[in-house]
This record gives sequence, C-alpha cells and structure tokens, in this order.
Amino acid sequence: MPHRHRGKFITFEGLDGVGKSTQLERLAKHLRERGLNVITTREPGGTTLGEKLRSVLLSSRTSGLSPLAELALMFADRAQHLDEQILPALQRGAWVLCDRFTDSSEAYQGGGRQIGSENVLQLHRILCHDFQPDLTILMMSDMARTVARARRRNVAQSKQMQDDENRFEKENRAFYERVLAAYVAIASREPERVVQVDATDAIPKVHKKILQITEERLMPAQRGAREKTS
Ligand code: TMP
Repeated sequence: MPHRHRGKFITFEGLDGVGKSTQLERLAKHLRERGLNVITTREPGGTTLGEKLRSVLLSSRTSGLSPLAELALMFADRAQHLDEQILPALQRGAWVLCDRFTDSSEAYQGGGRQIGSENVLQLHRILCHDFQPDLTILMMSDMARTVARARRRNVAQSKQMQDDENRFEKENRAFYERVLAAYVAIASREPERVVQVDATDAIPKVHKKILQITEERLMPAQRGAREKTS
C-alpha cells in the first residue's frame, strides 16, 4: 500500500533504560514550540488493544510465551497501531514520534530470541505494508549500565502498581549482546534512515544532537534559514 503522507515519522530505538522516552518528549516539546502538530506514542502500546498486549508482553507474570508467539503479538500490536494511529496522523500532517517500532522486533526477537532478521522483515512487509520511518534515532550506551538502570526503574514502578514490566529485563547479558549486535547491523544496513546517537552524554547535550540530526534530515530548508540569521 503506498503511503503519501504529509507528516514525518520518527522512531526512537535502543536498549531498555537508555533514555529514549526522555529524549522523545524533549524533541516533541521543541517541535511543538515551533508550531508543528506532534503526537507521541509507543510500542508495544499506543492503542487500546496495544496497551492490553503490552501488559501481556511485558509482565513477568506472563510465563512460557514462545519466541514466535511473542513476535506475533508484537506485530499484532504494530499492525493495529499503524492503521489506527500512525498512518491517519501522518496523513493529517502530524509528526509522529514513536518509542520503538519494527527495529525493536528485529533486535529483540530477531537477534535476542534468535528468530532471525529475515523472518521479522517478512512480517513487516505483510502486516505493516513495509512502511518505514523517515528517521530512526538509535540511542547507544554502555550495555550493563543501561540494563541495570531499566531494572531499577521497573522494580520501583512495580512497587506502586499491581503488575510490572520486567519480563525482558530478566534476560541475561548474552541476550542483550545479541540485541545490541542486531541494532548495530540495522544501522549499518540503513544509514540513510538510522542515526546512532551517543546517549552517555548529559540529557541536554543528547537533545541538542538529536535536534540537529532532525533538522538536517527532515527540515533542511529551515535549518539553512536559521544558520543564515545566526
Ligand atoms: P520500553 O517501552 O520500556 O522500551 O519496553 C518495551 C520492551 O519490549 C523492551 O524490553 C523491548 C521489548 N520489545 C520487543 O522485544 N520487541 C518489540 O517489537 C518491541 C516494540 C518491544
């Protein structure tokens, strides 16, 4: 299905705890201040069905989920999200900033669970019209520190909620090494879409870098005009 849309689709990727959500919100705030219509969303989640699937997929109370069933649920979430939220918003001219998309399935299920990239990409072609983001920010940081941060955050959250989102954080180092290797492979395969950002710097510095990439890739005319006046 061809998608001629007016808005822009930006996805944020990286390991759990790398700081995607913070940077996504900062970029959204900045773009809104520039007068753009921006929606922020996430996967799994983003729709009523998606939030239900999210609690099944991320809860450590979900046991025995097979890797293929996990992949199928991620794509059920995504197919609904794309058709219900993302594509209509882009067609209205909104900018959609999404915390994770198909690269997460390729990294976590394709790499981490060893299902393989090609199987994931084939599902993407069938269920998601092979629709690609205009830009993907891949946030990179030290693996052990990042995963430890995600674990601490989820343990703190689960004390306040009845359930938790810890199922993935329970995975071991080898799993996360495969996830990271798959992310790096995606970035070198698609440099025109995926930009790696060093997430170890302070939050404002990372934000500035992401903003610069966004302007260069998606708003070159405005960036040129701003440089001339400064
Ligand atoms: P997050 O929303 O805190 O980033 O957590 C989502 C978790 O779900 C994270 O561990 C990555 C995992 N995930 C997959 O394994 N495959 C996917 O396709 C997506 C979207 C997320």
